[in-house]
Amino acid sequence: MRGLIFKRRSVRTFIDKQIEKEKIEEIVRAGQLAPSAMGVFPWEIVVTQDREKMDRVTEVSPYTKFAKDAGAVFVVCGNLTCYKPGSETGFWVQDCSACIENMLLQIVEEGLGATWCGIYPKEERCQDIREIFAIPEHIIPLGIIVCGYSNEENVAKDRFDPAKVHYEIY
Ligand SMILES: Cc1cc2nc3c(=O)[nH]c(=O)nc-3n(C[C@H](O)[C@H](O)[C@H](O)COP(=O)(O)O)c2cc1C
Repeated sequence: MRGLIFKRRSVRTFIDKQIEKEKIEEIVRAGQLAPSAMGVFPWEIVVTQDREKMDRVTEVSPYTKFAKDAGAVFVVCGNLTCYKPGSETGFWVQDCSACIENMLLQIVEEGLGATWCGIYPKEERCQDIREIFAIPEHIIPLGIIVCGYSNEENVAKDRFDPAKVHYEIY
């Protein structure tokens, strides 16, 4: 049986409709269910539904302009201070990416649409996002999710390419 993942696609046009707080909470709850190397769960999520902040997000890159009509923006960050001194910290990007993907799937479940926009490792974008959301230096904004109600349908394309799958040996 095909699940939600087969419906997810990037949605960049939004209608003027407020996202309910319960939906926001389910989305961040789903994000925090993501798997995490060594069980560290190094993510922190900043959520805004404030028009002024979302307008400032449109300036962060040429690829975030559609935030002007969003109903919410989620900033998923890595907190490297979660790691014990001397332990491997390099998995934070995978962990936080899994968190973002979980959130994207819950967004589909909630009847909303969204696009993941990359922030880290672009230093200038990280700095802009830090300024908008008062994020301290030790917290790294990995990506943002620009989300809202949309008239676009969540119908994913089929990208299955058997040539990219290797059985037993490469
Ligand atoms: C790390 C990452 C960064 C991305 N950054 C942007 C972005 O800045 N702006 C944007 O419109 N889409 C962005 N995307 C969305 C991709 O363009 C999109 O996922 C891709 O074109 C495939 O389309 P689909 O999501 O509809 O399957 C990003 C996706 C990822 C995974």
